[in-house]
Amino acid sequence: MAKKALILYYSWSGTTAKMAQALQKVSQATAIELTVKPGTFSTDMYQTSDIAKQQLATESLPMLNNQLPDLNDYDLLLVGGPVWSGEPATPVQQLLKQVPANYAGIIAPFYTSAGGDEQYQANFQKLTAARVVKGLGLSGSSFSNETTTINNWWKQLN
Ligand SMILES: Cc1cc2nc3c(=O)[nH]c(=O)nc-3n(C[C@H](O)[C@H](O)[C@H](O)COP(=O)(O)O)c2cc1C
Repeated sequence: MAKKALILYYSWSGTTAKMAQALQKVSQATAIELTVKPGTFSTDMYQTSDIAKQQLATESLPMLNNQLPDLNDYDLLLVGGPVWSGEPATPVQQLLKQVPANYAGIIAPFYTSAGGDEQYQANFQKLTAARVVKGLGLSGSSFSNETTTINNWWKQLN
């Protein structure tokens, strides 16, 4: 039987949202876009980078606006977001903190970047005790031709 999957994603500028939509289409899983309080980040990339670094330095990850369902009801969490300085964006880090310590399912990361995502999988893994499988990273520029890649990744997760 196919796993019961939930898509949870954050997208600052819409690219990971497109990937999440493609994944939703193929998986038919429920998708939840994670949001933070308006004004948490800037509309400027460099300022947003500074804000995120400050959040990490002061261990003050932004709160999520979302009321999450009981994550233990799902076998597979598809967790998406942009790569920020090689790391999961801080709202994704906040989400990972909210995964129950005893979560017995699998987490599969998906992410978009400008091409510099080599450290992402390892950095993501460090943020949770849950089982993390090999994720799928795409770079924004090549994104439109990636439906087959997304479909294949989804298939091998099941
Ligand atoms: C704060 C910030 C930091 C970023 N850091 C990286 C990075 O380390 N490596 C990279 O390849 N792209 C980096 N980028 C580019 C984004 O990862 C990329 O544009 C991504 O596709 C944006 O996804 P989104 O539209 O879902 O937010 C960064 C962008 C921002 C705003």
